Amino acid sequence: MTQAALEIPAHVPPGLVVRFDFRRDPRMRTDPWGLIRELTDKPDIFYTPELGGYWVVTRNALVAETFRRHDLFSNQYVTIPKIPDAPPLIPNNIDPPDHAKYRKFLAQKMFSPRALASLESDARKLMRDWADKTVPTGACDFVPSFAQPMPVDLFLRMMDLPPDRREMFMPWVRGVFRPETPEEGTAAFRDLAAYLYGWLDERIANPTEAGGHMLPAMLAAEVDGRKLNRDEMVSIWMMLFLGGLDTVTAQMTHVMRFLAENPRHRQQLLDDPALIKPAIEELLRRFGIANIARVVRDDCDYHGVAMKAGDMVLCSTPIAGLDPTAFANPEIVDFGRVEADSHWAFGAGIHICPGAYLARLELRIMVEELLPRLPEVHVPVGGLIEASSGGTLSLTTLPLAWKAD
Ligand code: HEM
Repeated sequence: MTQAALEIPAHVPPGLVVRFDFRRDPRMRTDPWGLIRELTDKPDIFYTPELGGYWVVTRNALVAETFRRHDLFSNQYVTIPKIPDAPPLIPNNIDPPDHAKYRKFLAQKMFSPRALASLESDARKLMRDWADKTVPTGACDFVPSFAQPMPVDLFLRMMDLPPDRREMFMPWVRGVFRPETPEEGTAAFRDLAAYLYGWLDERIANPTEAGGHMLPAMLAAEVDGRKLNRDEMVSIWMMLFLGGLDTVTAQMTHVMRFLAENPRHRQQLLDDPALIKPAIEELLRRFGIANIARVVRDDCDYHGVAMKAGDMVLCSTPIAGLDPTAFANPEIVDFGRVEADSHWAFGAGIHICPGAYLARLELRIMVEELLPRLPEVHVPVGGLIEASSGGTLSLTTLPLAWKAD
């Protein structure tokens, strides 16, 4: 990202300026949680001139409110800096009233627990196969070995895309989320869209071959009494690709790192697997990964802060989850924490993540399947852990070792 830092705009009071570059600050690579924790002592809403300038809300409750206030904030741009020529992704870049038309079939027909019922056994099988292959080796870099390919493999199954295309999809995932250069990002977007148009055309021409429930649900969907057109379908497919892959990868890396570094918590889950569900909620709270933005619609006063039309506002779930006014000792992971469910890891309001059920399922099965198979899993002494921050905050390397069978 090459966007230069801006001057402070006239409507921003100097007392509300804090320098914070959530993408490029070197500490986001080495100590992201330490840096984020420091922000939670800053004003409830502050402004940073980095990346073209943006507001940051630091309180858990304000992050939820900002997610919800589509009367004040638009989803036209959800990345900082804005990418003005990016095609709108359905449904995330769509504001009311049109948003609801798309959202309805997505949530009800494509992502309901019922629609995803068969996925649990698929996920379990994929993870068991990984364990059979990897456990005897005694060590791996968890990110390229598991956290990156696993959500892609599941996604390909769920979307009825050919499983042997994983090698083609992986560079696109990396190119879209963590491009080395802006050109790489644009090329990954373009190539993914071109592939999806071709694949969709082939499927539409041969509807009887369509498997799974996702594509049939989309082909049957109606908006304003008409079927979706080809551009809308590719846009939704792209959205699912972007919403559903790097997010799950990122969350898996933080969950696994925490468990590898905390034998007492690990033992709690091994002793009482019923704790895994609440543990996942607490880890979603403690290690939020989503940096989503909103655009101010019209000049407004938001909790005493004057915002101008077009200003960007960062809703960061990593920051929200560490808010000490919402969570006592927020850095401590406590599987019995009573307020653990008050996190907004999946957003809030009309855009709340429709993939949350699926994401929780993947995380839960990962813990259920891997913990018993990786005895004494730990980060080896001197093992380098690195993070990367953008739309998601993810680890990019996580060396693990365990006692091999
Ligand atoms: C741990 C994993 C995940 C996290 C933390 C996450 C987080 C989020 C958040 C915070 C939003 C709200 C965006 C906004 O308010 O603008 C969102 C929306 C969305 N997510 Fe997820 N997500 C995850 C997994 C998934 C999965 C697995 C899928 C599907 C395959 C998915 C699909 C979507 C879609 C389509 C939207 C847009 C919904 C709308 O605008 O109405 N997500 N996600």
